Amino acid sequence: MRVSGQSYRSVWLEGAVVKAIDQRRLPHEFVITELPDWPATAEAIRNMTIRGAGAIGAAAGFAVAQAALTASASEFFQAMDEAARVIRATRPTARDLFYAVEQVLSTAQRAGEVARARQSAVETAQALADANAAAAEAIGRHGAELLRDGARVLTHCNAGWLAMVDWGSALSPIYHARRQGRQVSVWVPETRPRSQGAKLTAWELAQEGVTHTIVADTAVGSLFQRQQVDLVIVGADRIAANGDVANKIGTYTIATLAHLHRVPMYVAAPLSTIDVDCATGQTIPIEERSVEEVMLVSGAASDGRPATVRIAPEQSPAFNPAFDVTPASLLTGLITEAGIIPADSAAIQTVMA
Ligand code: MRU
Repeated sequence: MRVSGQSYRSVWLEGAVVKAIDQRRLPHEFVITELPDWPATAEAIRNMTIRGAGAIGAAAGFAVAQAALTASASEFFQAMDEAARVIRATRPTARDLFYAVEQVLSTAQRAGEVARARQSAVETAQALADANAAAAEAIGRHGAELLRDGARVLTHCNAGWLAMVDWGSALSPIYHARRQGRQVSVWVPETRPRSQGAKLTAWELAQEGVTHTIVADTAVGSLFQRQQVDLVIVGADRIAANGDVANKIGTYTIATLAHLHRVPMYVAAPLSTIDVDCATGQTIPIEERSVEEVMLVSGAASDGRPATVRIAPEQSPAFNPAFDVTPASLLTGLITEAGIIPADSAAIQTVMA
């Protein structure tokens, strides 16, 4: 997607260096960070410089490729295994991260000989990133058919191009509809505690000239009650074999409200997000993050400099689950690169076959 007239992906590989848009500094500063080796890339995933399921999947694949490029020939496969272990431990919920690590590692292992293993690791990581961008583009084409002129869409968190390699998952249909000349407006819940909606989704939509309004997460029920939402589209971090969806905390609340108010709700995600080894959402690992994210708010001070302030009493306990699970029964469908399918076991089995 374009920023100030120039095309970018959220994360890419240049030689042995991973480059990425530093998502912690948006919307106040647009900075490209350079990650010279796999530990630096793993740390960028862990500290959320790179975030969003598709983007961390691509970054994880690139990190394994960086490990392949730098591991000594004598201990090549042990070094690769150790790098993969650390990269897998960065964040637990997004399936794309584990998928990318397995794919890059196994092609390197299958290559047998070190020089060939290095080359196939890089090629596979690049192919996975390209596939994520292509899937996001196809998701946009399929999903745009759901959006009539004037549609009012509610999304959650950031499932735009920053969260994928390009285009986005939930936002890709909106970008496609916009480019096809339809006016679509978007409700953007702030998405506490890290505010990916207010910081990242709002920034992306502004860059693309899409009409949008930021609301506090607590305003969502009222939007449904006033009949101000025509359609919900969110992304996913992991989809179970039965269609249950793990996505940013707050998604389940939105799904419950959408169901109550009979507003269609779609989850947009590439097939790589589906984990057939998770029979239901109950077995999806849910990341729990530092309580400091709940106790503090970060942004730019009036002089433009980054600032963090405490909003809760220091002695109060807090709890910070990063994702929740929406049961498939609350969803209208899944928007995938293979088309729009029901969120159920039969449809998932067919599309994954
Ligand atoms: O914790 P984050 O910011 O990585 O969470 C991201 C989300 O929950 C997105 O909605 C999700 O990754 C789907 S978009 C690819």
